Amino acid sequence: MTGNVTIVVDGVPHPVPADITLAAALLNLGVAAFRRDLSHNARGPVCGMGTCFECRVTVDGVTNVRACLELVRAGMSVQSGA
Ligand code: FES
Repeated sequence: MTGNVTIVVDGVPHPVPADITLAAALLNLGVAAFRRDLSHNARGPVCGMGTCFECRVTVDGVTNVRACLELVRAGMSVQSGA
């Protein structure tokens, strides 16, 4: 697929390129805090290949989805740590 799809990030719709990872899309949108640790510090992608678990977000109500392993889909709703 080429072109854009619209994803909803923290309640705001954004067009993003199709066929990229959710982590790439969020970084392109300027999202720095993918989640918060127990001390409420912002956390974001480190490895980009599924091993560090720092990029976890909530997608369509499913918690702890690794954004670096998830491709964007039209209409997906993402909750970050912002
Ligand atoms: S960036 Fe490390 S698991 Fe996603």
